[in-house]
Order: sequence, then structure tokens, then C-alpha cells
Amino acid sequence: MHAKRNTSSPNGNAAASPSTSLDASLREKEAFNFALFQHNPLPMVVVDHDGHVLKSNLARRAQQMPLPALGAPLFDPQRGEPETMLDIGLRKAIASGDVCHFTDVSWAKTWCNVTIAPFPQGAVAILEDITARKQAQAQAEHQQKQLIQADKMVMLGNLVSGVAHEVSNPNNAMILSATALKRMCNDLLPILDRVREQEGDFDVGMRAYSEIREELPELVDVVGKAAQRIKSLVDDLKAYARKGPETLSETVDVNAVLDAAVNLMNPIVRNATRRFSVEKSAELPRVVGNAQRIEQVIVNLLSNASQALPNPQCAIVAGTRWDADAAQVVIEVRDEGRGIDPAHLERITDPFFTTRQDDGGTGLGLSISKSIVESHKGQLLFSSEVGKGTVASIRLPARTGGIANQRGGQ
Ligand SMILES: Nc1ncnc2c1ncn2[C@@H]1O[C@H](COP(=O)(O)OP(=O)(O)OP(=O)(O)O)[C@@H](O)[C@H]1O
Ligand SMILES: [Mg+2]
Repeated sequence: MHAKRNTSSPNGNAAASPSTSLDASLREKEAFNFALFQHNPLPMVVVDHDGHVLKSNLARRAQQMPLPALGAPLFDPQRGEPETMLDIGLRKAIASGDVCHFTDVSWAKTWCNVTIAPFPQGAVAILEDITARKQAQAQAEHQQKQLIQADKMVMLGNLVSGVAHEVSNPNNAMILSATALKRMCNDLLPILDRVREQEGDFDVGMRAYSEIREELPELVDVVGKAAQRIKSLVDDLKAYARKGPETLSETVDVNAVLDAAVNLMNPIVRNATRRFSVEKSAELPRVVGNAQRIEQVIVNLLSNASQALPNPQCAIVAGTRWDADAAQVVIEVRDEGRGIDPAHLERITDPFFTTRQDDGGTGLGLSISKSIVESHKGQLLFSSEVGKGTVASIRLPARTGGIANQRGGQ
């Protein structure tokens, strides 16, 4: 840009008088400010001392949000929140001369970050539209929740089939026995009736036969029906997936969570090893988080440990301990399994990394576990030696107050 010079110095050279060079410099600044304002990609509105619209830039005019007319108030408290808050902010900024920021404002069907920059005659309101970012964030959170739920479903499916197997076997035996007993009853009762006719009434299980004559087939029926009921409950359980609350602010007793995870995984772990033990520290501070989520991580680790054992002579030890130096509660699952190849160690928590494709592994267990532990501000660490085994540790920060004031099952 060139400022035009229209005066001459006494020696014939062009020279600016102080007032014209001031004019030129002002024009230059104005042109610069105009370009900066009009072509700024951030939507901006200039308001006067009373917060009434003076002008808006190109980006603002291109926005979806409806524009208040020139001379109308930019933020109208009559339209309720958030405009009341923004109007107060605008007035405060103009009165104090201090820039003020509002983040994540939900306004006129959009999300905005609003910055109000005052100048002597009014203020510039910068209205950054963050709707797309907010929507992407919400979608990512939704997907993450779905992944967690999907992982839970897979895990629950495994657990339920283990438990169902354990319950089904004795229950099936009951159903078969009840059916056989019923058949036997049908054959036995006419014989017993004849005995009573010939020899008179007699005792069965400390009661007179005549009394239990009608009851006996009913008792057998009750056993059969109860076993059928257990069978349908087990079937329901297979289709059932718990969906817990999503709070991360519970006070969690990690030993109790470990017990719950071990109970759930007991059939699977016992199937993998004859040497399973649990070593809990008696003095363990509570942590803050979501017990069900932490349980989900331990379940994943126990599942991986069980899958890694080459034979039932290899041990799994699950335990808890307090790391005073780091002020962390540590939950460990150690196994004497095949170990993890050093080349894989860095990748095992990547989504979809699995060496068990053929056995139905999804490679999501550890990636979801890691994100759960990190949402608790903790760490999920692994150390492993091929052929010797693996130690997986969940490290969680203790609830403030440390170990001293948390004893006694508080
Ligand atoms: N204790 C362990 N011993 C040996 N390898 C392990 C152990 N834990 C994890 N791994 C390795 O890490 C990989 C990823 O584990 P992750 O739990 O994420 O998925 P997965 O067990 O393969 O499948 P999924 O858990 O989804 O069924 C496993 O495939 C395995 O190679
Ligand atoms: Mg797994």
C-alpha cells in the first residue's frame, strides 16, 4: 500500500508535513484494521458503548447464527440465558477495559467461544463457532462408550458361559433325576397302595404313608420345576448385560473390587490353572473412580493371563499392594504364561492389536482397559519375559488422605 504525498520540500524533494504524514499513517492503520477485521476468519461484531451492533465482518455474516440488526443490542437479556450472562460480560468489559472470555457457550443452536475485547468507543465481540468440534467430541465420546460396552458384552458373554456351564451341569442332573423319580413314583405308588391295603398304614420318612400318598408326586414335581426355573434363569443370564452408572467419583475399595473380579472369573481361571492365588494387602487406601470399570480392567487382565498359560501347572497370582513412594494403589495380575514378545510389548494396548485372532481375540481388551485406567488418572503397565510370564499392573492414585486415615474399612 502506498500513501500519496502531496507536499514538496523547499529543495524540491517531496516531503510530508507533520499533519499529512499523520493522516497517511492513520489511513494506513485504518486500512490495515479494516482488512484485519473484514477478512479475519473468526466471526466478529463491533458494538458501541451500549452494546448495540455497529458492524460485523464477513465471517460473521457467513455464519448460520441469525444476525441482530444494525443498532439492535448484540446480546439481549430478554432472550434469557446465555445472552443475559454475555450482556453482563460485555458491559463489564466496556466499563473496565478488560478483555473477557466465555467458553463453550450454547447459543442460538450453536456452540461458541466468545471473546469480548473492549476499546474506548465500545467493544469487538469475537464469536468462534465451535459447534462442529463439539459434535465431533460428543460423537467420539459416544463411540468410546459403545466400545466399552461392546467389550463388556464380549467379556460378559465369556463369563456367563463359564458360570452357566458350572450351574448347568448339576442342574441338568437335577432335571434328569426329577424326571426319573417321577417315573419311579408312578410305578411305586400302586405297589405301596397294595401293601397298605394288605398290612395297614406304615411310616415313610417319619410320616404315615396315607398322609404322604398325595404329597409325594407333588414333591417330586416341585424339584423338577425348581430345576427348570434355574435353567431358565441361567438362559436369561446369558442374554443379560449389566449397564452400570458412568460416575468416576465413587470411593472404591480396591480389595473388594478384586474379590468381585476374581469371583466372576473363577471358572475361567480355575480351568486354566491349578495354581491360582490371591494376595491382598490388608492396609490399602481407597481410590476414587468407578468400581465397575476397575473390575472390568481386572477381568480383562485375568482373562489374558488365563489365555496365556500353556498348562494348568503354571500359576496366576492376583494381588493388591500400596506403593507409598508413588502414593498409588497397585493391582497386579502375574502369570507364568508364554510371555509377550518385546516387539509386541509397546503395541498390546493399541486398539485391535491381538495375537489371538484365531481364538476370537478382538484386541480391544487392553486398549479399553488402558483408557479406563487413564480416565482414573492411573497407569496400566506391563513387564514380561518370553517363556517366563507377564506382570500386568494397574496403578491408581490413592484418594487424598493417604493410608493413615483410611484404615478400618472407611
Ligand atoms: N498376560 C499376557 N500374556 C501374554 N500375552 C498377553 C498377555 N496379555 C496380553 N497379551 C497380548 O496382548 C494382546 C492384546 O491383548 P488384548 O486383551 O487387548 O486383546 P486379546 O486378548 O487378543 O483379545 P480380546 O481381549 O479382545 O479378546 C494379546 O493378543 C496378547 O498377544
Ligand atoms: Mg484380552
